Order: sequence, then C-alpha cells, then structure tokens
Amino acid sequence: MNKRSLTINIQRFDPVAEAKPRTQSYRIPFSPGMTVSDALHLVNEISGDAVAYLVSCRQGICGGCLVKVNGQSRLACCTPVEDNLTVGPAFPNLVIKDLVTSKGAVKTIIRRP
Ligand code: FES
Repeated sequence: MNKRSLTINIQRFDPVAEAKPRTQSYRIPFSPGMTVSDALHLVNEISGDAVAYLVSCRQGICGGCLVKVNGQSRLACCTPVEDNLTVGPAFPNLVIKDLVTSKGAVKTIIRRP
C-alpha cells in the first residue's frame, strides 16, 4: 500500500447558500498516475463532502472537466495531481456550485459578436 499523501485545496461555493467562495483543504492518499479528477473523486469518497465537479469522457476529448489548476485552465482528467495545488472553477463568475459552471451562459458569452 502506498502511504504517500497530498493536500489539495478546492474552491467551494454554493451561490444559493453562501455569500462568497471559500477554499477548503483535503488530505488524500496519492498514487502514481493520479489526475486532478481522480483526486476530486477521492476527496468526495474519503471526506464524505459533496464537492461538485463534472467529468465525462476522462480522455481529454469533451472538455467537460475544465477547471482552473493553480490559476491555469486545465482539463482535470488529463492533469497530473501534485501536492498543494489549488483547484477552482473554470469560470468563477458563472458558478452553479463549487467547480461546476453554467455552460449555457458560457456558450452565450462565446457567441456574442
Ligand atoms: S472528462 Fe472529457 S475532457 Fe475531461
């Protein structure tokens, strides 16, 4: 059993219930090859929290898992996880909950002339 572990900092925000985002840190076991989406899954499994995030193809194709990792836009399913990284929503002004943003609003913004 691999006893290595890491800390992941996740921006949490429920606009319906909270006034502003907060960052919550989680300590999770690390395994080689682990991605950010693997880490998010493990956070929910271990902590019992319900961090909201999206994942679909897990192959870097659909773009559904787009988040900010240390402030840079990254696909969570393709980004290796490392100790002490911070994960936030791809579009902070369009948060539905935690890391999930309104894709409909994003499409509307992109289509504007
Ligand atoms: S889940 Fe499809 S690109 Fe990451």
